Amino acid sequence: MTLLVISNLSVYFPTDSGLVKAVNSLDLTINSGEAMGIIGESGCGKSVLGLAITRLLQESAIIKGNITYQGDELLSLDIEKMRKIRGRNIGMILQNPSSSLNPSMTIGWQIAEPLVTHRKIKCKKAMDKAIELLERVKIKDPHKRAKQYPHQFSGGMKERALIAMGLANEPQFIIADEPTKGLDIAVKKEIVKLLKQIAYQKTMLIITHDLSVAKEVCDKVGVMYAGELVEIAPANGIFEKPLHPYTRGFFDSIPARGLKPIRGNSPSLIDLPQGCRFHARCDSCTERCIKEHPPMLEHNSRYVRCFLYA
Ligand SMILES: Nc1ncnc2c1ncn2[C@@H]1O[C@H](COP(=O)(O)OP(=O)(O)O)[C@@H](O)[C@H]1O
Ligand code: SF4
Ligand SMILES: [Mg+2]
Repeated sequence: MTLLVISNLSVYFPTDSGLVKAVNSLDLTINSGEAMGIIGESGCGKSVLGLAITRLLQESAIIKGNITYQGDELLSLDIEKMRKIRGRNIGMILQNPSSSLNPSMTIGWQIAEPLVTHRKIKCKKAMDKAIELLERVKIKDPHKRAKQYPHQFSGGMKERALIAMGLANEPQFIIADEPTKGLDIAVKKEIVKLLKQIAYQKTMLIITHDLSVAKEVCDKVGVMYAGELVEIAPANGIFEKPLHPYTRGFFDSIPARGLKPIRGNSPSLIDLPQGCRFHARCDSCTERCIKEHPPMLEHNSRYVRCFLYA
């Protein structure tokens, strides 16, 4: 069953230097129970995509297209209805624990407060639930920890607290943006384990620049480059056999696979090139790639935006 359908989504930001085309004509479907990963280098539009789904983008952003969640067209919902959906149906684990947690509020209350607001649960019961959630995300001594402030938590514990906040309203769908960023390897492993457990029970969209996280947790993976999806495939397929030259280059650029950087740089989102957005960096580039923008093509039940598969 499909849960979320994104069609022809574009997000632009007007800036002094020009229009930043952060997300361009993006199509994506997420089925119930699936863990979908969105990967790609920094600045390719991953976070903007997550924020567009939850309608947390700043007012000046120009958003076009459709995002349908269980029959509701999210982009045209009034603010109040959208807030309800955010509170009850879609959980968001925001990027960067330090800025997403309130330094002057106890961790327990930060988890409990939305329950009081959105679910009209009494404070005492909400605090009990917060403690239960801290336990669920494997924070030791949750009674004591609930009364502490963010500065008393380590990086890994802050990330766990954010995950607990994302789970608080028992949403069916959870978006996690860079849930392992800035964590050391041992802590990252623990968080990945936790995300895997959550993914068994929920539908997830995991935004990450970290391939190992996508590989461990996700069923399906979408690769973004310069504001557009260039490949969508089952996780095992894409890691075994990436099709798009960018996906291959991106995989080869990580330490575990030889640290071979892709030559050149991503194009500016203000001044996107004609033709394939990857053409200036691609060893398989042809005349056609410079002139024509490749559509997403179906190839062996996978999707790839490259003329090599036409
Ligand atoms: N509010 C904004 N105003 C202008 N540009 C923005 C804004 N938010 C994001 N961008 C730009 O959009 C692009 C995509 O950003 P983002 O989605 O955060 O990338 P990432 O893939 O690293 O998560 C970047 O070039 C970023 O600078
Ligand atoms: S369309 Fe052409 S330039 Fe783009 S990735 Fe494929 S081969 Fe390379
Ligand atoms: Mg980001």
